[in-house]
Amino acid sequence: MIRKYKLGEPIDTESTVQDIAISSDIPKGFVMDSECVFRIDMSEDTRVYGLGETVRGINKRGWRYISNCTDDPIHTESKNSLYAAHNFLLIWNKKNVVGYYVDTPEKAEFDIGYSDPDRLFIRLNSPNAYFYEITPDLTRTESKACETDNPLTKVVQQFRHLIGQSYIPPLFAFGYGQSRWGYKSREDILSVIQSYEDADIPLDSVYLDIDYMDSFKDFTINEDSYPDFEDFVKSVSEKNIHLIPIIDAGIKIEDGYDVYEEGIKEDHFCKKEDGTPFVAAVWPGRVHFPDFFRPETRKWFGEKYSFLLNKGIDGFWNDMNEPAIFYSEDGLDEAFDKIHSLEGQNLDISSFFEFVDTVESVKNSPKDYESFYHEYKGQKIRHDKLHNLYGYMMTRAAGEAFEKLCPDRRILMFSRASYIGMHRYGGVWTGDNQSWWSHLLLNIQQLPGLNMCGFLYSGADTGGFGADCTEDLLLRWLAVGIFTPLFRNHSAMGTRQQEVYRFPHKDWMRGIIRLRYALIPYLYSEFMKAASCDDMFIRPLSFVYMDDERACDTEDQLFVGKSIMIAPVYTQNAAGRTVYLPEPMKMLRFDGDRLTEEADLTAGDHYIPISLKEVVVFLRKGYVLPLGKPARTTAELDLNDLTYIQFD
Ligand code: NOJ
Repeated sequence: MIRKYKLGEPIDTESTVQDIAISSDIPKGFVMDSECVFRIDMSEDTRVYGLGETVRGINKRGWRYISNCTDDPIHTESKNSLYAAHNFLLIWNKKNVVGYYVDTPEKAEFDIGYSDPDRLFIRLNSPNAYFYEITPDLTRTESKACETDNPLTKVVQQFRHLIGQSYIPPLFAFGYGQSRWGYKSREDILSVIQSYEDADIPLDSVYLDIDYMDSFKDFTINEDSYPDFEDFVKSVSEKNIHLIPIIDAGIKIEDGYDVYEEGIKEDHFCKKEDGTPFVAAVWPGRVHFPDFFRPETRKWFGEKYSFLLNKGIDGFWNDMNEPAIFYSEDGLDEAFDKIHSLEGQNLDISSFFEFVDTVESVKNSPKDYESFYHEYKGQKIRHDKLHNLYGYMMTRAAGEAFEKLCPDRRILMFSRASYIGMHRYGGVWTGDNQSWWSHLLLNIQQLPGLNMCGFLYSGADTGGFGADCTEDLLLRWLAVGIFTPLFRNHSAMGTRQQEVYRFPHKDWMRGIIRLRYALIPYLYSEFMKAASCDDMFIRPLSFVYMDDERACDTEDQLFVGKSIMIAPVYTQNAAGRTVYLPEPMKMLRFDGDRLTEEADLTAGDHYIPISLKEVVVFLRKGYVLPLGKPARTTAELDLNDLTYIQFD
C-alpha cells in the first residue's frame, strides 16, 4: 500500500512514474511547526536502511545525513552529504516494515537517532514536499519470477514500481574498465591497452577523462593529443575495447566555441536575478551551466552527445554535475575584498582563520547556489530550491537523447550527482573515494542503499581515486569490484599509478579479473532479473534471513543476485576473516582458474583463510551458479558454454 501526502506546494521532481491519489490528511508523526519536522519513534530493534549513496554502514541509525548533492572528495564518516540525494528510508523491526520517500529537490535532513537515539527526525528545508508512505502489500501480485514473501523486498519493489524501471546498460558495461585522470594522449591510451594485452588481462573499456577535450570544452577533441579521433575509436573498437569519455556540466565561455555560442544565442544557460548568465569556474575556467530543467535545453544538450556517438563512442560518464563550483565571479570578488581588508594587518588567531576560511569557502559556496535561477515548468526558480535535481536533469538530457538517437542500442551512462528518478536514465559511480581500507568497506556498505533506490548499475573507483594504492588493497578491492555492475579502476592525477599490470603480482590480479568474466553470465542475468522485478541486485543478509538477528546485524557480507553470498576481506594484513553463515552453504574457492568446492559448511561462524589471490563465495542451498569461461573481452564471451555449480 502506498499513501501519498502533499505538504505545502511541492515542486514536481518527475522522480515517480505512477499516479497516486493524494491523501487528504498529513502523514502520521508529522509536526508542521516552524522546523517542518517529521518524527518517528524507533524501538531498540528498529533498523533503518536506505538513503542510497551516503557515508557509514548499511543500518543508518546513529548519524545525521543531509541530502545536498556536494562535490566533496573526502568521504569520512564525519561528513553529512556526498554527491547524491536519495531520500528513501526503509524502517523496520519485527512488528513493522515501512518505507518513506521524501520527494523534495531541496536540502533535507535525516537525523536517525543522532539528536535522540530513539527517534528519527526528517527536517525539511521548506514545508513543501511529496511524502510517500509504503507498507508491504501482501495482496500485490508479482509474476512468478519476481515473487517474494520478504516484506523488506516487498516494500522495495513497491517503491521501485513507483519510481520506474532501472536503467539497463549494454553487456560490455559489465566488463572491466581502466581509467585514470592523467591519460594525456592517444599514445597513453594505446599503451594502457597494449599493457593489458601483454599481460593477458581482460579489458573492455578505457575511460577518457577531461584531457581528451580541447581546453576541457565538452563535445570537443584535443586534436594535438588525439589526432584522427574517429579512426582511433575505430581501431580500438576492432580490439573490442570501448572508449568512454567524460562530459562535464559547465560549458566554457569562449568566443568561437560553438556550444557556448549556441547556448547564448538560444538562451540555454542559467541566469542570475538580473537576467545575465551565471558565471562559475570549473575545469575549463569560466563556464555557464546549461539549464537542464528546460526540455528545450535538455534536447539541445542531449543531441550534442551525437558529436561523440557519431565517432563510434557508445558510453559516457557525466561529471561535476552537483554542480561543482570552484568559484563564482561574485564570490571571488568578495573573497578578494575580504583578503585585501586583512592585508597588512597583524593577524591574530581569529583573523588568521578568517583569512584561511575566506579562501576555503569560495568553493561550492551556498551563497552561489542561491544566486542563479532555472526555468522549470514555466516558473523561474532559484537554484537552491531545485539543487538536488541538477545532476539528474543533466543525465536525463543524455538518456532522452539516446532514446531518440540510438533507439536500438544501449548506451553506457553513469553520473556522479544523482536524485531518485535518474536511475531510469543511468547508473552512478560513488565519486572521489580514497585508496583507504575504510573506503573498501564503504564501497561494500553503499551498495544495498544504492540498489534500494534503483541505482542497480553502480560501483566505486576500484583501488580508490585519491591517495596511493597498495598492491594488497588493490587485490582485495578487485575481489569486491568483480561483483559490482560497474567495475572500473580509476585514480587521480598525482597518485600512484594503479593499473593492475604495474604490480608485481599481476598474475593474481589477472586471475581475479578473469573470474569476473566467468561470472558475467550470472551477474548480467541476475541484474536483468532485478531490473525487471524492481528488485535489488545486491542485498544485505536481512533481505533473506529477516528472522536471524545475527544475519541482520551483519554488514560486511552481501548477497549478489539470488544464489551467492560474498564475504570480502577488507582489512590490511588479514589472512582471512570470520564469515557468518545463516544456513549451510557450499563454499567456492577461486584461485586463478582453479575452483575448489567445499560442500559441508554448517550454519554459524567460520574462520575462512582467504589469501590475496583468492576469491571465496558461498552458494545457497537449492541454488545454482552458472559459470562461463573467462574471456579477454565481453564480446568474446561464449554465453552458451556454461558450467552449472549447484548445491542441493
Ligand atoms: C572529478 C571526478 O570525480 C573524477 O573522477 C575525475 O577524474 C575528475 N573530476 C577530473 O575530471
